[in-house]
Amino acid sequence: MRIIFFAGKGGVGKTSAAAATGVRAAETGKRTIIMSLDVAHSLSDIFDLDKGLMDLNRGKPLQVGEKLWIQELDILEEVSKNWKDIHSYLSLLLNTTGLDEILAEELAILPGMEEVSLLLYINRYVKGKDYDVIILDCAPTGESIRFISIPTALEWYIKKIFKMERTLAKYVGPIAKKIYDVPIPGEEYFDAIEHLFERLRGVDRILTDPETTSVRLVANPEKIVLKETQRAFMYFCLYRMNIDAIIMNRLLPSDVTDDYFQSWRENQKRYFRKAEEYFHPVPLFPVNLFKVEVLGYDSIKHLANDIYGERNPLDRFFTDKPYELFKRDGAYELRMSLPFVSRESVELNKVSDELIIRVGGFKRQILLPRQVASSASVKAKLEGRHLSIFFRGENHGQKT
Ligand SMILES: Nc1ncnc2c1ncn2[C@@H]1O[C@H](COP(=O)(O)OP(=O)(O)OP(=O)(O)O)[C@@H](O)[C@H]1O
Ligand SMILES: [Mg+2]
Repeated sequence: MRIIFFAGKGGVGKTSAAAATGVRAAETGKRTIIMSLDVAHSLSDIFDLDKGLMDLNRGKPLQVGEKLWIQELDILEEVSKNWKDIHSYLSLLLNTTGLDEILAEELAILPGMEEVSLLLYINRYVKGKDYDVIILDCAPTGESIRFISIPTALEWYIKKIFKMERTLAKYVGPIAKKIYDVPIPGEEYFDAIEHLFERLRGVDRILTDPETTSVRLVANPEKIVLKETQRAFMYFCLYRMNIDAIIMNRLLPSDVTDDYFQSWRENQKRYFRKAEEYFHPVPLFPVNLFKVEVLGYDSIKHLANDIYGERNPLDRFFTDKPYELFKRDGAYELRMSLPFVSRESVELNKVSDELIIRVGGFKRQILLPRQVASSASVKAKLEGRHLSIFFRGENHGQKT
């Protein structure tokens, strides 16, 4: 079983890369499904499929090759099919004025229904052994970051809140209903949530197992794209998902020598080098900008050749963890592995949400996760190949 996510900023080539990987995987004889949450449904566009056919098939897997299926989830349908009870309860509750502040906070951590529905499919396909390979074409970075926090948020919710809420509703509910004008959930609501958790059980283990699941970040060699990719890189690492490749898409081919593109070429080279430095030791896969957009089966195959060459797209190109974040005694520890062993002193420089680390000749810039970006004190310790950075306290606005 292999699950590969394609994530990255809007428009960088995620859907194209996912399609290319799926086509190659199916050619190796593996039953492969490419799933997309994208409401614009560009997956079927890239395969140049008839819209009428897709509409008929609405939301279900559609076979597009001997071993290849595509599925464009129809969120409205999924939500109304699966969680009518929860959904109606939530909207009822959210529409009630005077909603208790704590209750509102709890509800806010409940994950997006779209993402949950994708997780349900993953779990179902893995357990039912329907496919050998699942390829996921993610929404642009913002949303995929929300997606990866779901298993953690759900676990927290079920452990800390759910049982208490259920008990409270059972005993206090009938009285509260009379006193306050707030709807109290009935047994059906809790049964529906319990059923949902049951169906999601184990999905976090699947997603964080590097033998099964890899994330491939798609990027372009441009400043703004790279910045967002770095942030996504950090978050996927922190949620313990394995990133095994960075696909650097849309490089100007070396035979384009036109003067007009001179600055583009120089900038692309510069940002490519920066990306190599930043994402090391995760490998970068360079991909050229084509003469035309990626459209149709042959074009997708051409892209697959450009990305993978002779390599098998189902390989695990990198399995180590570049970063880990722990919380101990109220302080955060960010641990990273360095590509060398050194006894030299570590120099840290934090500016706003960026941390610049220098160890001898090695320099790395890290975009800090929100939890630690506001810390007042930052210290580092080098142990073997691991560098640990400790974050303490709150910083109220000043820079260090
Ligand atoms: N290497 C390439 N050469 C030429 N065109 C490309 C290349 N990669 C992607 N494209 C084209 O760029 C456009 C955007 O690509 P794609 O839809 O794969 O991006 P995306 O990251 O999925 O976008 P979105 O965030 O909107 O989902 C498409 O028209 C695609 O054909
Ligand atoms: Mg897309």
